[in-house]
Amino acid sequence: MQSPTSTAETYLSLKGIHKRFGGGASPFVALHHIDLDVRQGELLCFLGPSGCGKTTLLRIIAGLESQNAGTIHQGGRDISTLPPMERDYGIVFQSYALFPNLTVADNVAYGLVNRRMPRDQRRARVDELLTLVGLPDRGSQYPAQLSGGQQQRVAIARALATSPGLLLLDEPLSALDARVRVRLRSEIRALQQRLNITTILVTHDQEEALSMADRIVVMNQGVIEQVGTPAQVYQRPATPFAADFVGKTNMLDARVGSDGALHLGGVRMHCNAPAGCGAEEAVQVFFRPEDVCVRGIEQHGPNVLEATVDKIEFLGAFSRLTLRLPDAASGTLCADLSLNDLHELRPNTGDRLRLAIPADRLRIFRHACA
Ligand SMILES: Nc1ncnc2c1ncn2[C@@H]1O[C@H](COP(=O)(O)OP(=O)(O)OP(=O)(O)O)[C@@H](O)[C@H]1O
Ligand SMILES: [Mg+2]
Repeated sequence: MQSPTSTAETYLSLKGIHKRFGGGASPFVALHHIDLDVRQGELLCFLGPSGCGKTTLLRIIAGLESQNAGTIHQGGRDISTLPPMERDYGIVFQSYALFPNLTVADNVAYGLVNRRMPRDQRRARVDELLTLVGLPDRGSQYPAQLSGGQQQRVAIARALATSPGLLLLDEPLSALDARVRVRLRSEIRALQQRLNITTILVTHDQEEALSMADRIVVMNQGVIEQVGTPAQVYQRPATPFAADFVGKTNMLDARVGSDGALHLGGVRMHCNAPAGCGAEEAVQVFFRPEDVCVRGIEQHGPNVLEATVDKIEFLGAFSRLTLRLPDAASGTLCADLSLNDLHELRPNTGDRLRLAIPADRLRIFRHACA
């Protein structure tokens, strides 16, 4: 199935969502006037560090928390002040939150009982859902008899039981061990695409967000830093925070000269300086370790630097080199070398290495914008 395109219609629309906790002289602002459109059928990730407001925003969408200002529309309906029961979503939390005294089938059927669905229809729907999440024969067992991953599948089946328009997942995988987490990632993504259900997944795990999302919302201290596809967020981070939070980053102090060139490590480099960047302006320059080229570099080619190898870390499929630039003020940078790079160059600590960073990989952040 295709991912929702940028032309897909908006299913959920948040406008000016503002949330304060605590009154009195020093209230804490958890969300600062959030505007966000979620498209029909997409999987959107809220990604950000602990305490940035991900769960608070999800709970406001669910009606489990009320906003101080702002509106929410779902499927064209104004749900801003509706209680949770009158909203149309299923939710899964980090802890499995299954009823321990109910069987798996009764857990899944819980929302259907509340909606007074006849017993035989209910049974058929539960069977269908348990098959959907890969647990067709587990209906008569109790949650304690299942593994963590299986319990989370049951929680997903329960959230989907009433065929909601929106699926909300708050760190559903973070209590699971690494292998199960990776397998469930692709299972949830496949299920979400098969059902074409608009889904918001909260996570602080960048790998989870990059591998699962149609679009990622990078959050920091109650504001949205960037909304974009995984590739956009990874390759074209909008802010230093987004650059630093997602993936391994080189962020170095540099200067844009009056000639419009970037001066890094005593070397004049080509770059796409942002509009309005003034003469002799101190900036931060961003690039990824894998953007650094090390083979076939000509001494007088564009954007060529020489650096000293400080450290070599073997990381399996590649090795990460820490390199010191000749100009001490510019600091160190990381370069990821493939096995082929390593085989050809055979670098050792203390060696001087010639490297190049293509101009289109350099991203300049002005301090005023940081
Ligand atoms: N009921 C509350 N009363 C007071 N402060 C709260 C309340 N709920 C959340 N906060 C504060 O709001 C901020 C955002 O919390 P939230 O739970 O949304 O963060 P989060 O991004 O989900 O973090 P985590 O990744 O740790 O789950 C935090 O500083 C938190 O302490
Ligand atoms: Mg949270």
